[in-house]
Amino acid sequence: MKICRSIQSLHGELSAPACGRGRIGFVPTMGFLHQGHLSLVRCCREENDLTVVSIFVNPAQFGPAEDLQRYPCDPEKDIVLLEKENTDILFMPDNSEMYPQPYRTYVNVEGLDTMLCGQTRPGHFRGVATVVLKLFNLVCPAWAYFGQKDAQQAIVIRQMVRDLHLPVQIRVMAIVRDSDGLALSSRNVYLSPAERQAALLLPKSLQKAAALIGSGVAESQVIRESMQKELDRDPLLATEYISIVRLQDLQEIPAIEAGNTLIAAAVRAGRIRLIDNLLLGDLSC
Ligand code: PAF
Repeated sequence: MKICRSIQSLHGELSAPACGRGRIGFVPTMGFLHQGHLSLVRCCREENDLTVVSIFVNPAQFGPAEDLQRYPCDPEKDIVLLEKENTDILFMPDNSEMYPQPYRTYVNVEGLDTMLCGQTRPGHFRGVATVVLKLFNLVCPAWAYFGQKDAQQAIVIRQMVRDLHLPVQIRVMAIVRDSDGLALSSRNVYLSPAERQAALLLPKSLQKAAALIGSGVAESQVIRESMQKELDRDPLLATEYISIVRLQDLQEIPAIEAGNTLIAAAVRAGRIRLIDNLLLGDLSC
């Protein structure tokens, strides 16, 4: 695996004869890799000739009161994991490489960035869209891989790709969970044992939603109330939102639309914010 810390060395690697002929697949990450990330890397390897992974903790997507400084990182371990997955190129730029000063250009995907997670994370999706577009411009992938856990992020990126005619296809891969059902997330390491136990109510609430839908219930309010009841079982959890929305525009809908619905929730367990969702449809494009 080639490790590139600068744009110049990335360009050097990508233009090397060995890289010149194949289809490039790309997995952007912020590091502290877990099996969810590695499932994206594996799929990328299977579907492309060259696999590029980036690790960059993007300051533009963190609010001033958020955990940028505390974001977990273990680059040595990430490198070992990516070597094992036969990654071809790891791009690990620093802030000055990605945001040379003065920096003034940002991407706003209007109308998809203020609901769900956008309600409590203003500017987050602007930061995500900006860095992903920059990374796409640097790596020029044919395919890029994202996790369904960050479903709103995938929807924002899919819209940006369409709106800006970007020559990249987006693949959104299923959520990878621990054996107890908790969706894998780099931030899970910060949960205390009690918080982790409480956090299990989040996937359980989505299982309840799936069971209701399976039994023929379609009304959003009934599903939302059942999920809230589940989340209320542990006082350590504070619900941020439970949203039942259409995939294209993330607008709340009164009833489930088959093949076109996202049921998403965010909770706080102590200082840790957790998200999870149930997707009735497809986000790839
Ligand atoms: O999902 C993430 O890890 C990040 O939001 C991404 C897509 C790498 C952009 O910084």
